[in-house]
Amino acid sequence: MVFGRAKKMESNSKKEIWIKDWPRFINRLFLDAEPYLSVRGDMPHAKVSHGYAIVLMKEEGGDQRIIEPAIILHDVGWSRLERQAISAAYGVRAKGSEWRNLNRVHEEAGEAIAREILEGYSYDPSLIETIASIIRAHDSGEEARSIEEAVVKDADKLWRFSEIGFSVETRRQGISPMELYQHLENNRESWFFTRTGLRLAEKELQRRKYLLKPQKDHYPTI
Ligand SMILES: [Fe+2]
Ligand SMILES: [Fe+2]
Repeated sequence: MVFGRAKKMESNSKKEIWIKDWPRFINRLFLDAEPYLSVRGDMPHAKVSHGYAIVLMKEEGGDQRIIEPAIILHDVGWSRLERQAISAAYGVRAKGSEWRNLNRVHEEAGEAIAREILEGYSYDPSLIETIASIIRAHDSGEEARSIEEAVVKDADKLWRFSEIGFSVETRRQGISPMELYQHLENNRESWFFTRTGLRLAEKELQRRKYLLKPQKDHYPTI
């Protein structure tokens, strides 16, 4: 617990850290997001997608002051849904109006939580608006209105293609590697907004191919 002067010092040190020390700000954002992300076990997703966002940004451009907070905070809204609702709203088999409504809830709740977190850093209000609008439509929006939005959406999707993402998603959704692989292969062309995103997804998909072979193929023969 922090009292009086100590509390004031803490809030002063938080303010505008994003201007003075960007890497420290990013670490602190992950810490702020952790209680929300841990509800669905989404910290690995946020870390991996953040890594892809950095790679995409190097190739495609975009403002890191928008992209990095948006990708770190984009899924904090899952914390507002019950476990059962989360599984109905998410994954290969999620369909219909119930899915759409629940998916909207995680986007809108995520926007509200992200605003609150960023305001605590006295973050630039116009940047908060842009980040909030990206989070509000990160799953439901069918287009990318800026390069920043394109990078965030592509980085989010690339998680499913990554080694850890592929294995987490098969377990979480209760589907076989083959089912997920086919879902990714069938949808990849329509999902990505940037060339780099699609190129990375195809590269990762090639690397996941071995998971489709029978397990015995992985053992050396004598
Ligand atoms: Fe999401
Ligand atoms: Fe996500």
